[in-house]
Amino acid sequence: MTVPLRSARLVLRAYTAADAPFVRDLYSREAVQRYLGDGTARVSTLAAAAQKIGGWAEAYRGHPLHGVWAVCGPDGSPVGTLLLKPIPDSGADTAHDVEIGWHFHPDAWGHGYATEAARAVLEHAFGAGLGRVVAVTWPANAASQAVCRRLGMRHLGLSRAYYDTECELYELRAPASGAGAPGRKATP
Ligand SMILES: CC(C)(COP(=O)(O)OP(=O)(O)OC[C@H]1O[C@@H](n2cnc3c(N)ncnc32)[C@H](O)[C@@H]1OP(=O)(O)O)[C@@H](O)C(=O)NCCC(=O)NCCS
Repeated sequence: MTVPLRSARLVLRAYTAADAPFVRDLYSREAVQRYLGDGTARVSTLAAAAQKIGGWAEAYRGHPLHGVWAVCGPDGSPVGTLLLKPIPDSGADTAHDVEIGWHFHPDAWGHGYATEAARAVLEHAFGAGLGRVVAVTWPANAASQAVCRRLGMRHLGLSRAYYDTECELYELRAPASGAGAPGRKATP
């Protein structure tokens, strides 16, 4: 279930059918899809975008933590996607860990929105009792690795643990009680 979240500049909410034009625009772009999956997927029609939105709603309906958020910027319109979901284990039809992911519109890059939205989702996850979140990126995806670093995620190096492929693996464990928000120093 995609529970509504807020941060200083952003609102995170579930995608609705009305967001299909944004989802098509976002996921039709080579710059966005380059490092997602094998890099060849494109959402080129409104029908395909609507199907994607419906699939997200179906996949995480009823789960207290997992979700796919439409991240809305200061003017209220969507600027990107944040995901918190099970990550498929390599070589098996199982998923033991939870991953966080971010896909933002190129017009919204360079404002700190991905990191800010991810912090809100991590606070949601850890606040509800999740102990650990991982992120994986293609080795060449420097922008996404920079987000992981800004969040304070620990770099575990190259790994084949997930998706049957080799990725850079990052993890963040739930802060000890009173340690503050992820990626921020605790106040003395
Ligand atoms: C990965 C991705 C989300 C990173 O986006 P991003 O905008 O660079 O990341 P952030 O939200 O952390 O923004 C940081 C940038 O905003 C700048 N910034 C500007 N104003 C800021 C503010 N008020 N607060 C924080 N940062 C700010 C930072 O200086 C930094 O810029 P720099 O990279 O030039 O140093 C984006 O490249 C993307 O969507 N890529 C396509 C999809 C993808 O590959 N996803 C990851 C799959 S693993």
